[in-house]
Amino acid sequence: MQKEEQYQNLLRQAHSIVNNESDLIANMSNIAALLHETFHFWWTGFYRVVESELVLGPFQGSLACTRIAHGRGVCGTAWAERRSIVVEDVEQFPGHIACSSASRSEIVVPIFSEGQVVGVLDIDSQYLSTFDEVDRLWLERLVAVLMGGEKELWLAAGCFWGAEHYLKLLDGVIFTETGYANGNSPNPIYQEVYTDTTGYAESVHLCYNRHRIPLTDIVEMYFKSIDPTSLNQQGADRGTRYRTGIYYTDPADREVILQIYKAEAQKHPLPLQVEVQPLTNFYRAEEYHQDYLAKNPSGYCHLPEALFELARNHRRK
Ligand code: SME
Repeated sequence: MQKEEQYQNLLRQAHSIVNNESDLIANMSNIAALLHETFHFWWTGFYRVVESELVLGPFQGSLACTRIAHGRGVCGTAWAERRSIVVEDVEQFPGHIACSSASRSEIVVPIFSEGQVVGVLDIDSQYLSTFDEVDRLWLERLVAVLMGGEKELWLAAGCFWGAEHYLKLLDGVIFTETGYANGNSPNPIYQEVYTDTTGYAESVHLCYNRHRIPLTDIVEMYFKSIDPTSLNQQGADRGTRYRTGIYYTDPADREVILQIYKAEAQKHPLPLQVEVQPLTNFYRAEEYHQDYLAKNPSGYCHLPEALFELARNHRRK
């Protein structure tokens, strides 16, 4: 089985663990067990923030250090810098704390609750270079699920190349993909959507951790990237496929979205042309359209560089 598929199954099981039990330590214990059973890594476990230190939590593996100071080792650095750290060779990480000499590579993912780091997930491998971006992405989703924070949203903001590049930069957005939303025919391909007869809007599917970025911030940042009074046109791109829209699956999101929408409407003399609707369907776009601007840095983009800078600097209020 591919790593992605294993993580997909694991995430599904983690959802059911968390839906059936509210105690954090119980859920950390079962998620550590789940990770261990799936991947058999050398050490898999949690540290919790207790006052000014990380204190050992539920784990699978051999004896481990019980306390780690803020900013120390890989775990304390991930806490201080509020970001995941992938270490290909622990010998090369200055200040790495060797709980076991068998550990050769490591990944540490911070756990957020309401904007604060409340712990870390730490996984050690006996082999070099075990972890990569795929692990980082799925483990960030996993810790979001652990804290009941994993959420999704679909945004149509004109050409999806620039829109994805922009939205991906937001701190707390874990994963993005481009695709076609709220159209009429099954399995659309780009050439069909391009004819403007399918009803699809070029859109970005976001998976985010609401403990790191609330929905209000995402919607506010979305509005900064569009001309909300322009119908079926953003930049030079024209057509219904370039319409603007906010699509949700969680009905509770609607009110939050409409609040920001109303505040935005006050700023413009012309009416807003942005749809706010439940998501009816979404099809992932062809690989060529995924992370397009990362793959083609000088490719076409309707958004200015200053906007990307704004996204890079955005932090939870
Ligand atoms: N290596 C970690 C310490 C924890 S153990 O790996 C279980 C670190 O440098 O923070």
